[in-house]
Amino acid sequence: MEVVICKTKQEASKLAAEMVSAAVLNNPKIVLGLATGSTPVLLYKEMAKIAKATKVSYKQAKSWNLDEYVGLAGTHEQSYRRFMNENLFSHIDIQIKNTHVLNGLAKNLERECAAYEKQIKAAGGIDLQVLGIGSDGHIAFNEPGSSLKSRTRCVYLTPSTIKDNARLFFKGKESEVPTRALSMGVGTIVEAKKIILLAFGKGKADAVKGCVEGPVTQFCTASALQEHNDCWIFCDEESASKLKLKKYYAWRSATILGL
Ligand code: F6R
Repeated sequence: MEVVICKTKQEASKLAAEMVSAAVLNNPKIVLGLATGSTPVLLYKEMAKIAKATKVSYKQAKSWNLDEYVGLAGTHEQSYRRFMNENLFSHIDIQIKNTHVLNGLAKNLERECAAYEKQIKAAGGIDLQVLGIGSDGHIAFNEPGSSLKSRTRCVYLTPSTIKDNARLFFKGKESEVPTRALSMGVGTIVEAKKIILLAFGKGKADAVKGCVEGPVTQFCTASALQEHNDCWIFCDEESASKLKLKKYYAWRSATILGL
């Protein structure tokens, strides 16, 4: 695990976008795993900026998103399908037919999740997975108590995640937030060949501490990433503030990245 600590989220997002863009340039048929939420918005802006200014093309790329709320149509303002179309897909040359988001309206949720796993496998697995982190240490919607071997399935959101996400829903009401989601499992996520997690702001400091320096435990599902051999954590100073070895990580990653 490499922890890159930047002064600001702008700086961290730019560096992460350069890493994603280099991977796409190197493998135009890349299979991407993508996240939603407020954290990757700047990353996606930077990726689009780089694609416009360079030869980086997503024409042959494919993507699978981490999760989707149960009960929301892809056209709903807070659906993750809509988020992706607005924040990334409409700004790069990826073919919409090659982008995949779980269907929160599927009649048979179990079948929807099993089919998603099959699709990812048939595509050769995720080459590069983008992640955010919840304030409770979740990745995708793998809330505390999720098995570290879990696969794509229907999950129940914790009250703290519902509270965190309510700001985006009608009048910020918690009652508007779906209580269930379809989510890739931790076991699904850690099979990605490369992982980039972004974390910004002091509200993520405890989660980052648990992810990087805590024990590997299902009570902070991001901690499973400690066992991955190509995982990059991009933080700003606030989210990295509780790390014991932050100076060492900053020096080491800067040396590796030639910063
Ligand atoms: C979203 C996702 C979630 C978010 C996390 C942080 O696809 O998988 O794990 O990354 O809840 O959300 P934000 O970025 O809004 O703080």
